[in-house]
Amino acid sequence: MKIELHELSPDPDRFQVEVCQGLKRSQKELPSKYLYDERGSQLFEQICTLEEYYPTRTEAQIMAAHIEEMAELLGPGVLLLDYGSGSSAKARLLLDHLRDPAAYLPIDISREHLLRAAVELARDYPELEVRPIHADYTGAFELPPFKRVPTRRVAYYPGSTIGNFDPLPAEQFLERVAKVCGPGGALLIGIDLVKDPTILHRAYNDSQGVNAAFNLNLLRRINRELGADFELEQFKHYACYNPRERRVEMHLVSQQDQSVHLNGMTIHFEQGESIWTESSYKYTLERFAEVAGAAGFSIEQAWFDKRRWFSILYCRVQGA
Ligand code: TRP
Repeated sequence: MKIELHELSPDPDRFQVEVCQGLKRSQKELPSKYLYDERGSQLFEQICTLEEYYPTRTEAQIMAAHIEEMAELLGPGVLLLDYGSGSSAKARLLLDHLRDPAAYLPIDISREHLLRAAVELARDYPELEVRPIHADYTGAFELPPFKRVPTRRVAYYPGSTIGNFDPLPAEQFLERVAKVCGPGGALLIGIDLVKDPTILHRAYNDSQGVNAAFNLNLLRRINRELGADFELEQFKHYACYNPRERRVEMHLVSQQDQSVHLNGMTIHFEQGESIWTESSYKYTLERFAEVAGAAGFSIEQAWFDKRRWFSILYCRVQGA
């Protein structure tokens, strides 16, 4: 089966512009979406299999335990939008249980990863219309045309990736999702819950150093794609939980005073100075209800694991 890719990739200059801007700030930072190049996407998949990284496994347990009920709520003839689909592994369980889904639209920033997954999925679900969208979904994007008129549009947003947005952008993103899904639409979302910081620390500082390799890969990518000269051994992965903000902060810490060159610019680092590469907010149900409510969703159903480490929520677009 031939798979048509809906190509909405951001212009390549964006990467350079955003990297330069981020590194000029007094607290240097880099947008976390750029962690996911080909190698980064693979490393992230590897993180998901780590014993210490509980979110993926916990979420999968909740999905498996309640999949019938979820499929029932989504209903027949659904158009499924998979935000940050990666390998599409998580969507497969849903697709196996949904009744006669109208189409599957995986959206991802990592092009090859997306295409490979879409081809495999289309092969395994020959009846299903599969329309991959290569886009940075943190901005607005248009949907490709699809054949059938769905009964409703449902956004699937697993992995607690919503936690990688700061509060205001999180709300703005969910608002756009509500618009895309429209009246009658819904959102099935995974959120990582507030818990003992020791568990968080282990998850983001694994013993095999995969989190570190994933984080450092961003500098490797900047070297390769933008011709910078970061020395990877001179930066160290650092992740710690900030309890007041309820977020894990991921940094790359300079091991010495040093200068890095990028695009005619010299960036100075003091020893101990960091580049902030990502935040991973942990939610309480109350807090998420506020954000979702402000974005136009109401929570209809919540499922948890036994330890209440993670939750999957079914949220309906309000006023429908
Ligand atoms: N979305 C993942 C999370 O918040 C991303 C992540 C896991 C990550 N480990 C990391 C990002 C290490 C940077 C560095 O759990």
